[in-house]
Amino acid sequence: MTRKLFVTTALPYANAPFHLGHIMEYIQADIWVRHQRMSGNEVHFVGADDAHGAPIMIAAEKAGITPQEFVAQIAAGRKQYLDGFHIQFDNWHSTDGPENHALSQDIYRKLKAAGFITSKTIEQFFDPVKNMFLPDRYIKGECPKCGAKDQYGDSCEVCSAVYAPTEVINPYSVLTGATPVMKSSEHFFFKLSDQQCVDFLRGWALQDNRLQSEVANKCREWLDGEGEGSGLGDWDISRDAPYFGIEIPDQPGKYFYVWLDAPVGYLASLKNYFDKTGRNFDAFMADPTTEQIHFIGKDITYFHTLFWPAMLKFSGYKVPDNVYAHGFVTVSGEKMSKSRGTGISPLRYLEIGMNPEWLRYYFAAKLNAKVEDLDLNPDDFVARVNSDLIGKYINIASRAAGFISKRFNGVINTTWATSDDAFLSNLRTAAPEIQALFEAREYGKALRAAMEQADLVNAYVDANKPWELAKKPENDAKLQEVCSRLLEAFRILTIFLKPVLPQLATQVEAQLNLAPLQWADVTSPMPDQHQIHPYTHLMQRVDLKIFDQLFDAPTASEAAPTTTETSSQIEPLAEEIKIDDFAKVDLRIAKIVNCEHVEGSDKLLRLTLDIGEGRTRNVFSGIKSAYQPEQLIGKFTVMVANLAPRKMKFGMSEGMVLAASAADEKTNPGLYILEAWPGAQPGMRVR
Ligand code: 2FM
Ligand code: ZN
Repeated sequence: MTRKLFVTTALPYANAPFHLGHIMEYIQADIWVRHQRMSGNEVHFVGADDAHGAPIMIAAEKAGITPQEFVAQIAAGRKQYLDGFHIQFDNWHSTDGPENHALSQDIYRKLKAAGFITSKTIEQFFDPVKNMFLPDRYIKGECPKCGAKDQYGDSCEVCSAVYAPTEVINPYSVLTGATPVMKSSEHFFFKLSDQQCVDFLRGWALQDNRLQSEVANKCREWLDGEGEGSGLGDWDISRDAPYFGIEIPDQPGKYFYVWLDAPVGYLASLKNYFDKTGRNFDAFMADPTTEQIHFIGKDITYFHTLFWPAMLKFSGYKVPDNVYAHGFVTVSGEKMSKSRGTGISPLRYLEIGMNPEWLRYYFAAKLNAKVEDLDLNPDDFVARVNSDLIGKYINIASRAAGFISKRFNGVINTTWATSDDAFLSNLRTAAPEIQALFEAREYGKALRAAMEQADLVNAYVDANKPWELAKKPENDAKLQEVCSRLLEAFRILTIFLKPVLPQLATQVEAQLNLAPLQWADVTSPMPDQHQIHPYTHLMQRVDLKIFDQLFDAPTASEAAPTTTETSSQIEPLAEEIKIDDFAKVDLRIAKIVNCEHVEGSDKLLRLTLDIGEGRTRNVFSGIKSAYQPEQLIGKFTVMVANLAPRKMKFGMSEGMVLAASAADEKTNPGLYILEAWPGAQPGMRVR
């Protein structure tokens, strides 16, 4: 039966670019989603920016823009990360969208009608200059225990004491420096302490394997509390103006606390997506077979396993089916930290040309269904990518596909295949177990099982030595048979790895001339006389040295402009031009679909470029000294597309690619071809 799945990842605050932890979570969920799609299930995978709250309001004010403008700027930067790491959300929305305003208010009204909202007057620190109540982290002062200065309003970083903001000595507002005053105000509370809530949550959290066992245990502790009865207190869901958030119905000047409307943003993004694509949100959510699944980090389980299900339940909405928490990403065993040089910017990773699928593979290899931290260790990374991914998997294709293309016109011969060889039937039998491991989020085990199969395939390679067979023409039939079997094995392994390596799988599908691979295709071998396309190299090995660049410097987009004065050492600038002069040069994003040496030339490479014209262009470029052809295949660069074609000794050159070089090529011979950022598509104009 086809499952109907609604899958989310936690909504990131719209006040900073993504860090590696976000990317890890998205990759974890994306792998699961892709696995579900390959199983034929209906999946809707959505995300959004978490736009509200005091920190974002204050950051926007500092930047001199409205909070709406501020979050829009952050939102505009999301796509390059998501596309760059092949994370395929169906929709990316914002908790400040109209859907979220409507849904949050609807949930509140229903909770209120059902008697789950109360109000109470509470006293809080207030900044008399800014005229606003101060969240604890906006109060500082001396620690009441050890006297350390400049400690936050809730805890001391020197002696680790935890206290109330009212205990801080000589408190001051971080925003204005003013001494805060106590002021009272009416707040609204969700009655989490209500026995109905506690009973419901106990049932929800502890049944049906809904939660990981360690999370369920935590919930039990929270529900039981330390002493008698329930440990849950009522939850303060309101904040006073000024606040960037959603207004509470019929309570002017009162807003929902950001954590009330944030998870409602899951529903809002789905609704936005369904409305845009002509689907029925209400019907989908009312369908009892719809499964609602949230991937989150371990730090926000409290919100997702207590507040969120209770809010949904008592407002009459569907409750989540599963909440899956993961741990944090560490780097070489330490918390990521820029100052210690262990911070990794995902954009820099892409900018320096590291393959996003290496990271997907590495994360997958380390992920399991538990709430464990995941360590990124460069040596381990290199070993897994080079030894497993390339050494065991990619190598199978590179050893077999070339012979099929060159010696047998790309034709697979399976006349031998009355029954599978042991290694092929092993592969097919392994599929259900690997599929089940993906289902259970045991990706590390799934990849280990896949690599064990790859080992068996490689043993077949070693036993049959295609390169030896190729030496004698009388072995041709055997060579074609061995390589055909190997490509069939490679096809099945590609199915196993496709949730993790979607881009690579697409390349393999194109080369093997196959429709998009699904789990069910494991049992349908390539037919006899199936025609494949010429083999081009699928993936480069990773060089440990590249990690120096990764840890080195901030990305271009993060780097602050520098204004040091130095004498100019660059080539003199060309004569000034007008914008119209520049517009005459038609620059386009070009995909390098092929690249090869040019016989008889020690300077040129022959590039086959695609700029989306429905044909490819042939361009000769003098970059042979700097690149091996296989380094360039698949890359996106910039070409001058309206340059008059030029007849050269080796053929027509239909354009030019852009590369950087120093003025004096003798003393500084480096050549650097331009590469587009992820997301740019062939044919896009560069202006
Ligand atoms: O911790 C965070 O980054 C929150 N912005 C997560 C919100 S998840 C969901 F509730 F929206
Ligand atoms: Zn202290």
